[in-house]
Amino acid sequence: MKKNPTTCRASRSVILLLLAIVTVESSTGGNFDIKRLDFPDGFLFGTATSAYQIEGAYLEDGSGPSNWDHFAAVGGNLSTGDNGYITDDYYHRYMEDIEIMHSLGVNAYRFSISWSRVLPKGKFGEVNQAAIIFYNKIIDNILLRGIQPFVTIHHFDYPQELEDRYGGWLSPSMQEDFVYFAEICFKNFADRVKHWATINEPNLFVEMAYVRAAFPPARCSPPYGNCAQGNSDVEPLTAVHNMLLAHAKASKLYGEQFKLEVDGMIGIIVSAFMYIPLTDDKEDKEAAKRALAFDVAWILDPVVFGDYPPEMRRYHGKELPYFSSDERALLRDSIDFIGINHYSTFYAKDCIYSSCICNDSSCTKGNDRPLRGFVSTFVERNGVPIGEPTGMIRFFVVPKGMEGIVLYVKERYHNKAIFVTENGYSSPDNEDESYQHDVKRINFHKSYLYYLARAISNGADVRGYFIWTLMDDFEWRSGYNVKFGLYRIHHPTLNRIPKLSAGWYRYFLSNTSSSDIESSDYILSDEKHLAY
Ligand code: BGC
Repeated sequence: MKKNPTTCRASRSVILLLLAIVTVESSTGGNFDIKRLDFPDGFLFGTATSAYQIEGAYLEDGSGPSNWDHFAAVGGNLSTGDNGYITDDYYHRYMEDIEIMHSLGVNAYRFSISWSRVLPKGKFGEVNQAAIIFYNKIIDNILLRGIQPFVTIHHFDYPQELEDRYGGWLSPSMQEDFVYFAEICFKNFADRVKHWATINEPNLFVEMAYVRAAFPPARCSPPYGNCAQGNSDVEPLTAVHNMLLAHAKASKLYGEQFKLEVDGMIGIIVSAFMYIPLTDDKEDKEAAKRALAFDVAWILDPVVFGDYPPEMRRYHGKELPYFSSDERALLRDSIDFIGINHYSTFYAKDCIYSSCICNDSSCTKGNDRPLRGFVSTFVERNGVPIGEPTGMIRFFVVPKGMEGIVLYVKERYHNKAIFVTENGYSSPDNEDESYQHDVKRINFHKSYLYYLARAISNGADVRGYFIWTLMDDFEWRSGYNVKFGLYRIHHPTLNRIPKLSAGWYRYFLSNTSSSDIESSDYILSDEKHLAY
């Protein structure tokens, strides 16, 4: 008798899944018992993406070239030779991706708006109506499925025109251009979008763009690197200054003209690594605090208190720009929430009282300078790594860091509302069995969520959590080699294929308990995806 191929495929996948589930349970390390009910009512659970990383549709329907298109086109900038011309082709497949999110059961979706799609030449040209139609379709379709839009206005990509005309974020002109773009977004979408983040990770962006030369416009100077142009001691400070003022002006506009209509919220998103002392020495303990101030508080102090952290003022000379009193007033309390992107934790070592010689891979050049707060960061101590490795060279799995960073932000900013706007795991494994049966990613999320819930029970006002990311995408300088997705993108078909973690997230979101992970719901969800 011939076997029915459907039954055969189904039973094979059930067996595979049961095997995988046993592995999940036995390799969890700590038993991180975490369930949706451990989080407050109305908590947002979502996935996060950014425009350039998924959309593709390069120069299509009136879209203009961005800084990233330009950067990727220049030979050698991306060792992988990749670019974002097609990436996940979300521009054409967004309906499928919305269905996928709906099937996961998320109640929020964080995405960004492509500046060069909406304004191909910034404020020096017309609004591209095709882009407005595109983002309207996304917003309307997710809302129809009970998913709240959480919109980032600017996530690393901007029209190349603005770089060519005046040097992008190094120029104060970028402030007005950003506000112009933000106003177009508010006018077109703010009637339905309640959560707005102005800028994604100014602190990480300027480090990559003006110190490491790993993001456009790829500028730097010694000792950080040898670029044709740049000044790594000054330019990151200038660019952040312009980004903060751009944020504050857009936030003011939103507050005056759009916020009340939908009782909306506006915030900024910061890259938020946790830092812990390398040793028990007083100096290293101070260094860990200083690292947090020079990284996280660099962005958040101005938007909450109106000025740069006192720790930074103490060590920087006049290269740290000053805000006028009007600017301080504009910046102060210019956020309703803090967005934190948290991935990993570093050991911090003091470089003021002891010398920091940069001679191994865990050390970053120039850490004996004010820009880095005179702190050296390490990912191991006495030869022992700080956590399990991931697919990103300096990201290790340190779940407790989530609690640490949330409590740091809670205390420093008087319990302002927080959203974890990104948290994710990149697989060290590439395209093999464990890549799709990504038990390690499941364990990562369970453990980080466990410590997030602990921070909440310690009083932190956390309102949402977004997994980075929905599907493997263009991972900036690493091209398509680093994979954070719950879904795999099969090249060249661009089919979306669920990893085990997608089934887990769906299970987590639809169930009240975590211990009965062998529930048939979990298996069925994956069966459903396999048939997709
Ligand atoms: C960025 C994302 C990026 C992720 C993983 C974050 O800093 O916001 O765009 O893909 O890190 O590297």
